[in-house]
Amino acid sequence: MKELFHYFFYSIRKRGLGQTFYFFLLKISNKYFDYKFGLDTSSDVELDNLVFISENKKEGENYGTISPLLFNKIMRTIPIGTDDVFIDFGSGKGRILLLASQFGFCKIKGVEFSPELNIIAQNNILKWMRYFPNTKGKFQLIESDVLLYKFNHTENILYLYNPFSEMILIPLLQNIQKSMKYYERQIFIIYVNQHYNSVIENYNFFLYKEIDLINKKCFIYSNQIIKSEQDIN
Ligand SMILES: C[S@@+](CC[C@H](N)C(=O)[O-])C[C@H]1O[C@@H](n2cnc3c(N)ncnc32)[C@H](O)[C@@H]1O
Repeated sequence: MKELFHYFFYSIRKRGLGQTFYFFLLKISNKYFDYKFGLDTSSDVELDNLVFISENKKEGENYGTISPLLFNKIMRTIPIGTDDVFIDFGSGKGRILLLASQFGFCKIKGVEFSPELNIIAQNNILKWMRYFPNTKGKFQLIESDVLLYKFNHTENILYLYNPFSEMILIPLLQNIQKSMKYYERQIFIIYVNQHYNSVIENYNFFLYKEIDLINKKCFIYSNQIIKSEQDIN
């Protein structure tokens, strides 16, 4: 409790009162989401504590996720159509897939190389579908390294929350480009991280929106220059 108070006052000094309340609201909504639907999505997991073997494990980031409030804030900035296909590269426990199912996508895919995390995601999806039966048939979990993922050339909203280093990001971007050549379409890349933006820009994606998530940033890229509503007004 004492530590919590210290952290609270530290946060006020660092962020100010308003941001501190928002920050704590995010923390609460993070846990409340699991509590409300009986899920297991909020707690972090270190990849080193998982037993699976993969040559790309060392390039992967540990499992972590963002608050539903922040994800919804991101999604509200993107125009979404009923034919759109959402894919989370490095989908972990599947929280983002569940949240994405509230935005009218025709298909929601998750690619995750850890079998342990995938099983948790599968259970979360089953529980979610009991609450939201209309999401049945929308989810597809693919247990695979993202570099082995076979595009079916419909995926157009690509989500990457700090999943791996540029060693994986670069070949994945090359695969995305190949898929775009095969079937030309507008793609949005939602990138929650600040490390490898220049890498994405090198592959001819243009910054569409930058969103402040308090202690991190989200960058949305697209392969076509589109003016946001705000810019037009
Ligand atoms: C920071 S977590 C993000 C989880 C999820 N996208 C979310 O936002 O809730 C990164 C995830 O990427 C996965 N990952 C890392 N490298 C991967 C790879 N090469 N192929 C598939 N999954 C990978 C990790 O196991 C981890 O679950």
